[in-house]
Amino acid sequence: MGARPFIVAIDGPAGAGKSTAAKRLAARLGFALVDTGAIYRAVALAASRLGIAYDDDARLAALLPLLDVRFEPVPGAGQRVLLGGEDVSSAIRTPPASLGASAVSARPVVRAGLLELQRRLAAAPENRGAVLEGRDIGTVVFPDADLKFFLTAAPEVRARRRFEELQAKGDRATFEQVLADQLKRDRDDSSRTVAPLAAAGDAVRLDTSALGLDEVVERLGRAAEARLAERGRRA
Ligand code: DC
Repeated sequence: MGARPFIVAIDGPAGAGKSTAAKRLAARLGFALVDTGAIYRAVALAASRLGIAYDDDARLAALLPLLDVRFEPVPGAGQRVLLGGEDVSSAIRTPPASLGASAVSARPVVRAGLLELQRRLAAAPENRGAVLEGRDIGTVVFPDADLKFFLTAAPEVRARRRFEELQAKGDRATFEQVLADQLKRDRDDSSRTVAPLAAAGDAVRLDTSALGLDEVVERLGRAAEARLAERGRRA
């Protein structure tokens, strides 16, 4: 693999704690963070703005090469998501955008079209390493990742976390709506034929239902640091 940066894959269902854990892990290791869900969300947002149906493969395929999705670090606060230079960090996180992202992510043409972008963002030469979070990082995007995690949590725990996030942003969705949307997304993400949500055989599984965020980050961080040290000794 030569000089390919150290790759950490974090997969799992919505609300398992991937995003915050990935953000903090990337900061702890000094690695780039690639939020692949945000990329699918940006595709859905762009499609809906252009009136492209989420199952219109021909128009989605034509749209993908035109999309300019980038991540811009925000000191002390993670990163913002830019679509054609516009900050869409909030626009991609509404409940309709979540369902749209799930719909476009089921289209093989979209998954194939985004592979190269995800690999390029992670393996940029200036990156010492990268943490990627998504659904198929350890199985499809980087099957040879240096370290793979699969985070899970009970459905009610995951919905409660997402509900509290939305409430904090002033969104009026009810807990029941959030849980119902999440169950639908879980079903769709796990049952699609291309790259369904699944743990890689060599992923470290972690149930975060009863774990605080600090504990999750500590466990991921220790595992990553041990693997990095091993890789350093072999080099
Ligand atoms: O992680 P998220 O909630 O931001 O992801 C949004 C949607 O994108 C989710 O329904 C699943 C899909 N997704 C995917 O299929 N593959 C990925 N690597 C990341 C996200």
